Amino acid sequence: MTAIQAATYNVEFGFDAYQSMNDFIEKNDYSKLFILVDENTFEHCYPRFITKLEVDIPVEVIEIDPGEEFKNIDTCIGVWNAITELGGDRKSLLLTLGGGVITDLGGFVASCFKRGIDFINIPTTLLAMVDASVGGKTGVDLGVLKNQIGVFANPQLVIIDRKYLKTLNERDFTSGLAEVIKYALTYDKSLLEAVHQLDDSNIEEVIYKSINIKNEVVLEDPKEGHLRKVLNYGHTIGHAIESFYLESEDKESLTHGEAIAIGMICEAYLSHQVLGMPLDTVELIKTDILTIFKKITLVEKDFDAILSLLKHDKKNKKGQTNFVLLNNLESFKIDCQATTKNIKESLHFYNS
Ligand code: GLY
Repeated sequence: MTAIQAATYNVEFGFDAYQSMNDFIEKNDYSKLFILVDENTFEHCYPRFITKLEVDIPVEVIEIDPGEEFKNIDTCIGVWNAITELGGDRKSLLLTLGGGVITDLGGFVASCFKRGIDFINIPTTLLAMVDASVGGKTGVDLGVLKNQIGVFANPQLVIIDRKYLKTLNERDFTSGLAEVIKYALTYDKSLLEAVHQLDDSNIEEVIYKSINIKNEVVLEDPKEGHLRKVLNYGHTIGHAIESFYLESEDKESLTHGEAIAIGMICEAYLSHQVLGMPLDTVELIKTDILTIFKKITLVEKDFDAILSLLKHDKKNKKGQTNFVLLNNLESFKIDCQATTKNIKESLHFYNS
């Protein structure tokens, strides 16, 4: 696979990626390398990664607890303390080896430490490969509110090695498919078919096409002035549902992808109500998504709590919730509004 050229960095694939990483590190004369992992990636991904790292620079490993509940400022403080105690300076390099929590949090840690050190993303989940590690969004959650604190900061390099996907359980792998489906619905419907036929022979192509779409969008609108909002299709309702399940002690948390899958179905229905997308297409999207993501039942008495979380969405302006909706497959409209009634009906539609 040829490298994808992002704004100031490359996304590289397979064996060549490690070669580029080693050359890049040697060339830049870093003082020390810090590898940020969580308990899972330390056990399952680090052993592979360390055989690929061929540099003559001191390396330290910093491990954090795994999971979205640790994607917060306290964890960042722990990592900043660890880097400091281990002798980090402005010429240190942070390598983030993990899923979206590690790449988002690690990028944020790097971009604030001593006003910014370099970092390289090595995503190990499908979700991080096709979304989180590319495009320069870094940050952490604020309580249950997703990604409320953060900065735009680009990595120096992103390395895509699909071998890490073998370390994922099915639920975590499937979570990443929600983002691929998002690219399919908004830009390239051929990805839908590819997702249903996913195996070793086409996974790298699916990842490549997904990153390519994201990269084109981000190149045009790096700071989400307008077009980049399309990457939030399904995420307005999806994030509210994800936060709601995270804060509900009596409910098992959903993966990011599971929540976004629900959000994409609801927002397809909103697309019908607000933009007149044909109901057949909405049904097709729902059926397609529900062959991949297990249906859960949203409880009607929770609807108000879910709706109240919508007011924290980062696309909101002047107290108004904005959605990206579909005119049809591969055709979208940014900054659409829907009424509370519409939104509740879309939640009922998901349940139906
Ligand atoms: N994950 C959405 C974005 O990067 O803009």
